[in-house]
Formats: sequence, C-alpha cells, structure tokens
Amino acid sequence: MSRSPLPYNPKILELFRNPKNLGKMEDATVSAVAGNPLCGDMIIFYLKISNQDVIEKASFESYGCVANIATSSIVTEMIKEMKLEDAWKISWKSVIEAVGGVPRVKFHCGILAVGALKRATRTYYKDKGVSPDWLPEELTFEEKQALEEEELAKIISKRMKAEEEK
Ligand code: FES
Repeated sequence: MSRSPLPYNPKILELFRNPKNLGKMEDATVSAVAGNPLCGDMIIFYLKISNQDVIEKASFESYGCVANIATSSIVTEMIKEMKLEDAWKISWKSVIEAVGGVPRVKFHCGILAVGALKRATRTYYKDKGVSPDWLPEELTFEEKQALEEEELAKIISKRMKAEEEK
C-alpha cells in the first residue's frame, strides 16, 4: 500500500524549511516541555520575560513533524512583545489558522505547541510565587491534551517493552 504525502499548504512548508526562532535559548527566564521523547512528538519552549511580564523573545526546539515545527515557529512570532496575559489567550485554533490550516490528523501538533507555551507561563508564575487572577487553576484544553498524549506514549512504551521481553 502506498502512502500519499499530507497536503500541507505552502505557508507551512516555508515555515518548516525556514523556521523562525529555532534553538535553545541560553538566557531564557523559563522553559517548558510538552510531548514525549519516546515517540518523538516533543517540543520545548523557551521564553525571555521582562519584569513587566512581557515576552521579550521566544524560541523553541522541536522533535515533532512538519506541522509541529511550523506551528511552534509561528507561536514564537505571535507572542513576541506580548504580555503573558495576552499570550495566554492564544488558542490552538488560532495557531492552526495562522499557518493557513493543517490536515485534521495534525491538529495535535499545534495543540502541543500551545500546551508548551501555557506550561512555560504557569512555571514562570510558580517560580515567582505569584498567581495572577487571569491564570485559571484548571488546566486548559491544550495542557490537558499534552498530558493525555504523554500518558498514552508511556503506556505504549511500557506495552512494547513487555512485548519485547516475552
Ligand atoms: S507532532 Fe505528532 S504528528 Fe506532528
């Protein structure tokens, strides 16, 4: 059976070939991971945040697919110079829209990118010992989804290990 390539739009392909803000940030204020290295769908977000809670710069490392790299790249562009409170409002849907859409099976790639951003925001405030009133206690959809994916990857990995050892 032959597999046909996924129909990515030109904008995504361009972001994949020339991603913006790719790489580890040595002077990051905070970083966060979403996804699981076991299956390769993993992203790390780095944020440099000012004393006024403005994102001065953002970068990412991705071990995910074309859509993951493209959506992560666009998130780092979208949030530059934004207050954390405003960046928090960015949803996975707006990110998918910003890259011109992705095939439905790739929605989770954009969700992981936003999940990593939200985790970094929570970590930042946790480290500061501050809890702004706009930051909900309950996890957002993107954070829950990232968590579920990580759990699923762990289960699959355990099962595969058990199968190998038979
Ligand atoms: S990150 Fe999992 S398929 Fe894109």
